Amino acid sequence: MGVYVITGGTTGIGAATRLTLLNQGHEVFNIDYRGGDFCADLSQKEGRLQALAQIYHRYPEGIDGILCNAGVGPTVPPSLIFSLNFFAGVEMAEGVRALLRKKGGCCVATSSNSITQEDLPMDLVDMLTDVMDEAKATEVAKDIPQEYAPACYRASKHALARWVRRISPSWAADGLRINVVAPGNTSTPMTQNMTEKQKEAALLIPIPTRYGRNEFLDAQEIANGIVFLSSPQASGINGVVLYIDGGIDALLRSERF
Ligand SMILES: NC(=O)c1ccc[n+]([C@@H]2O[C@H](COP(=O)([O-])OP(=O)(O)OC[C@H]3O[C@@H](n4cnc5c(N)ncnc54)[C@H](O)[C@@H]3O)[C@@H](O)[C@H]2O)c1
Repeated sequence: MGVYVITGGTTGIGAATRLTLLNQGHEVFNIDYRGGDFCADLSQKEGRLQALAQIYHRYPEGIDGILCNAGVGPTVPPSLIFSLNFFAGVEMAEGVRALLRKKGGCCVATSSNSITQEDLPMDLVDMLTDVMDEAKATEVAKDIPQEYAPACYRASKHALARWVRRISPSWAADGLRINVVAPGNTSTPMTQNMTEKQKEAALLIPIPTRYGRNEFLDAQEIANGIVFLSSPQASGINGVVLYIDGGIDALLRSERF
């Protein structure tokens, strides 16, 4: 049985993933700012360093996987969105790379299917992935109005997916795999906080597998994809963005893949 580290495993998609792995007999170490096996604010550099120190202290023999799942929605300031959704994912994944190497492990990061929307601000994506400077991103974010936070959310998740695809060959050279899941709207505490108007807007494009029903996906459906990608069954899969959105991506972009 394996040893997996998960970030943001206390509620929602992370909790469903953690429980699925535990039920399969794996050991799971949850890092979250509340209710974690180790509590750390991963939006802060100091929190990430403390979390990494804990992981190295606890698992000197190595780990089988890290699931970089902690994230925030577009209700918080853009600087927090960039720090947690992008920089924390990158730093936690790269931070445990030496431990993953000991066991030929893998990483699965949680992005979003909103990364393909037409109005994606590519300038922000480029700033995140090409400059890779959190202090600079925080400075830029100060001037971004809050109503632009949904676009920042999409940019942060697109940047995460792009980073994973770019880095995946170098992970493979180390005997490691790194992939991304891109969930559609899913019932979790994050979406429970949506206003009725936001929910209606989110359901404007009905999820194909929910044909005729105005429903979001279930957290377990996303967890199943994460657990698969982190398992030996996915040994041939590296650098993919796995859309778990009931077919919305195929519906909107059938000719682009
Ligand atoms: N729910 C959706 O519709 C949806 C769609 C696409 C992508 N996602 C992504 O899925 C992931 C999980 O979100 P969810 O929907 O399960 O929501 P959630 O709010 O239930 O889960 C987020 C988790 O991250 C933790 N967290 C938040 N801030 C943190 C911080 N500063 N430091 C450490 N941990 C922190 C929370 O405590 C929680 O356990 C996120 O990355 C989110 O962006 C969600």
